[in-house]
Amino acid sequence: MNTQTTITDDLIVTLDGPAGSGKSTVARQLAKRLGVDFLDTGAMYRGITALCLHHDVDPSTQADEALAIARQSDLQFDWQTDPPALYGQGIDLTGRLRDADVTSQVSAIAALGPVREILVDAQRKIGKAHPRLVTEGRDQGSVVFPNAQVKFYLDASAQVRAHRRAEQLRQAGKEADEKLICEQIIERDHKDSTRKDGPLICPDDAVKVDTSQMTLDQVVDHLYQAVMQRLARV
Ligand code: DC
Repeated sequence: MNTQTTITDDLIVTLDGPAGSGKSTVARQLAKRLGVDFLDTGAMYRGITALCLHHDVDPSTQADEALAIARQSDLQFDWQTDPPALYGQGIDLTGRLRDADVTSQVSAIAALGPVREILVDAQRKIGKAHPRLVTEGRDQGSVVFPNAQVKFYLDASAQVRAHRRAEQLRQAGKEADEKLICEQIIERDHKDSTRKDGPLICPDDAVKVDTSQMTLDQVVDHLYQAVMQRLARV
């Protein structure tokens, strides 16, 4: 089934979960099915990182400079494009967001508490301007939108997430050591769930979905049905 709905009331749906749980793709498709906007908050952390690199600032050793850049970043999404293009300081950062240098430095940015505060604030403003929204990240239901109407937490076993990541790399023509990727995922999960600012946690009121044995379509269907059931109850 692939119906599209017209949502007229305000509706914030949050999707949190670790990398490789499939949340980005799922969130985007769910937003389409519901006919609402889609916010990729990881892109904002990546955008600040891309700006730092643009200014030759190393986020892992120059926290003060990185914070100054975050304060002056003026991140703006262009909601007319799909997915929304991201601008910072007037520069189109979209093409840089997934580059290897940005990917390898973004966790240093995500670990800076004052940078998180700036982005959490910016995300809440986006939620006000786009009150029908599927938003995806690691702290959306737990920190940014605690009153969201529907919260999901997507997970998958470390082995399955490593396999998905390896497949992505292979499809991009790169080599992938699945065992090593799995070890890195387990280590990152531990760091993410124990860090002080914005730790990765499953909110108490979130619907937890283990996507290990599910296809993308099955996950989107499952979430779509859960949102519709929730809306029918209010
Ligand atoms: O989902 P992603 O890979 O694009 O996220 C990039 C980085 O930003 C990753 O280290 C997780 C972090 N992040 C975060 O800490 N909080 C969010 N709301 C979104 C992403």
